[in-house]
Amino acid sequence: MTTRILTGITTTGTPHLGNYAGAIRPAIAASRDPQADSFYFLADYHALIKCDDPARIQRSRMEIAATWLALGLDTDKATFYRQSDIPEIPELCWLLTCVAGKGLLNRAHAYKASVDKNVEVGEDPDAGVTMGLFSYPVLMAADILMFNAQKVPVGRDQIQHVEMARDIGQRFNHLFGKGRELFVLPEAVIEENVATLPGLDGRKMSKSYDNTIPLFGSSKQLKDAVARIVTDSRAPGEPKDADSSHLFSLYQAFATPEQQAGFRADLEGGLAWGEAKNRLYQLLEDTLGEARERYNTLIAKPADLEDILLAGAAKARRIATPFLGELREAVGLRSFREQVQVAGSEKKKAAKSARFVSFRDEDGSFRFRLLDASGEQLLLSKSFADGKTAGQASKRLQSGETLDVRSEGLGFTVWIDNQAVASSPEFADAMALEVAIARLRETLAVQD
Ligand code: TRP
Repeated sequence: MTTRILTGITTTGTPHLGNYAGAIRPAIAASRDPQADSFYFLADYHALIKCDDPARIQRSRMEIAATWLALGLDTDKATFYRQSDIPEIPELCWLLTCVAGKGLLNRAHAYKASVDKNVEVGEDPDAGVTMGLFSYPVLMAADILMFNAQKVPVGRDQIQHVEMARDIGQRFNHLFGKGRELFVLPEAVIEENVATLPGLDGRKMSKSYDNTIPLFGSSKQLKDAVARIVTDSRAPGEPKDADSSHLFSLYQAFATPEQQAGFRADLEGGLAWGEAKNRLYQLLEDTLGEARERYNTLIAKPADLEDILLAGAAKARRIATPFLGELREAVGLRSFREQVQVAGSEKKKAAKSARFVSFRDEDGSFRFRLLDASGEQLLLSKSFADGKTAGQASKRLQSGETLDVRSEGLGFTVWIDNQAVASSPEFADAMALEVAIARLRETLAVQD
């Protein structure tokens, strides 16, 4: 059993060392687990909510894509794509918008924080709040539910959003699932033991504090950033306390236990801060140097990056396209061509037109077919040893109980009491398969 893991990265900034240790490194490691089916994507539609600078959006998308690839994400195993390459996501977002309670979204922390700030300064509560910001959690729910993700690794600030995705998915299941779960309900996963890196000034490393160390800057930029790390004023030769030094915390996040022990002993033995900074710089250079080469190669060939991401999008859409077809069916956005007439007086006619036909097979076993109005075969039963059990099975299919339909490749089977009793023909593609299943459900729903 594999677990589907999905997470998005908002493309508004340039990855720094804190993003690497706190999110990218654990995510790439998790994607290597043979049990993991990972979906990682650039949340570039979300980026538009926070940023109206097109150049920055574009730069960030490229930098983040190149970063993940340079650090070893295997795109044959994981599915890696840009949100904006999957048109099914905004379409699903609308279907979800139509069931998401406004009251639910009023309670979103990010929106409430904006309102509180406005109220505090005597502004209109919604001043500067876009519909994008307000609906942010619905788009995120679409990201997650589109691929039926089971686990969603996120930071603490995103837990509420994953819970909202559950709420919205559950409501959709209830309204349109007819007893079956259209959406898997996701769970947030908080990595407890990943490193939260301190920044240059000792506060959490974050773009908003302007205290970051760039992940793939040049050697010189890396050296300069390390030189700006704030330390205490102990002179060379004076013993230094590793545990109260964020320079040491940074070192720890990338060093082996032996390296850590050695560094600690040297600090306690009076190592000068300047020398300590050199040691950290060297460690980072050793850890990231090769990946930086790969990063620079990737950034220099944007067309190759484009191809990789488009291939990822095609892979993701092989799931999204047929699934969205099923969801459109569920809400009533159906092709007229496939229409089975169910309204009012037409109901009986439709009922009459589809029919069960039983027959005996050459080997003497009993079987039946379900034919539609035009005589086209919708189902062929398996072989039953006697006519009575065959008759019971066909009765059960007409009883109006919820059909247990399971698709397999481009066909499907119908199950009763956990036994396959009939199967469909093969269809040309996933869309035709979904349409046929919906048609079968409707046909059998009007049999009586
Ligand atoms: N909102 C997330 C963040 O800012 C990014 C994101 C967008 C996301 N869609 C997602 C994360 C879906 C997990 C799942 O960190």
